[in-house]
Amino acid sequence: MKYGRALLRDVEGYVPGEQPAQTDVVKLNTNENPYPPSPNVTGALAALSGDRVRRYPDPVSLRLRQACAERYSYDNADWVIAGNGMDELLALAIRAFVDPGDRILTTYPTYTLYSTLAALHGADVVNVDLDDAFQLPPAFFETPARLCFLPRPNAPSGVCAPRADVEKLCVTFDGVVVIDEAYVDFADDNCLDFPKRFENAIVMRTFSKSFSLAGMRVGAAFARPELIAEFMKIKDSYNMNAASQAAGLAAVEDYAYMEANVAKVRATRERLTASLAELGFRVSPSQANFVLAQWDDSPSARAIFERLKKRAIYVRYFDAPRLDGALRITVGTDEEIDALLDALREILDEGAADA
Ligand SMILES: Cc1ncc(COP(=O)(O)O)c(C=O)c1O
Repeated sequence: MKYGRALLRDVEGYVPGEQPAQTDVVKLNTNENPYPPSPNVTGALAALSGDRVRRYPDPVSLRLRQACAERYSYDNADWVIAGNGMDELLALAIRAFVDPGDRILTTYPTYTLYSTLAALHGADVVNVDLDDAFQLPPAFFETPARLCFLPRPNAPSGVCAPRADVEKLCVTFDGVVVIDEAYVDFADDNCLDFPKRFENAIVMRTFSKSFSLAGMRVGAAFARPELIAEFMKIKDSYNMNAASQAAGLAAVEDYAYMEANVAKVRATRERLTASLAELGFRVSPSQANFVLAQWDDSPSARAIFERLKKRAIYVRYFDAPRLDGALRITVGTDEEIDALLDALREILDEGAADA
């Protein structure tokens, strides 16, 4: 007899027990922030008392939600839920708003976890192909479903749909629209006002990217109180541990620190984009902390990926339609990006002796 489910998802780039020390490799494969979080975060973690740890945490993460409401100009914490990473909130959205057998709409390409979560729930996913510029095609607005996941900026292209398109979606879509703003702090604009304007809109944020808190697992969703109440009904009693709540709070209260890190990442992103274009890659205009670099020549993108790995430089390669000729590269520090560019120049000079 066979117990359990097939493994539906590799945790991106993670080898259990073998996570290399950050100093040993140039790790540009999981879109982490290359800079540490605000010192207030590490201070708040160090200050956690034995009593705080001995007791159960606040089940509804009230202080963190209040701080988010204040920072992002919502009336009060009823408009916000905090989650154990945005991934938890994505799973809750499916459980709250979709029945097994229902349809979930998203794009292709998109964040791969949506399909995994849908499969675990017994829901069907409709992936509508983005156009050649990774923008939403007309068919996207004509596909009925219970729930829609729209990553904006898109992952893995980094391209942002125009706000007008998201507005059109909220108006025409007869279901709940989750606007996944995991990377939006690196973008020129956002849709944080949409939940106030559209009753079916939910904006989700993660603290893993711009706030440098991937290891702490903090996410937040903003929506009308009626929708937030649906999440609250079904979440685990203590979905956010005491350390994550403290770290998230300290991070959001030191917003300027995050903005300064984001400014550095954006500047490096522009330099990376220009340098990759000089090397002959086609790079989509990214609004995120990564770029998708398409390569139509020899050696193949996969061979370049393997050769970078031999040099201890990790980028992301997708063995998937439309993406198998591309590398997704996280924007690291300037030194890391210099190391990557030097390695790419060497690999391309070595020529087409394809592995
Ligand atoms: C598009 C997108 N949404 C959500 C997430 C999940 O973020 P978290 O680390 O908060 O679970 C990621 C993480 O890579 C992502 O790329």
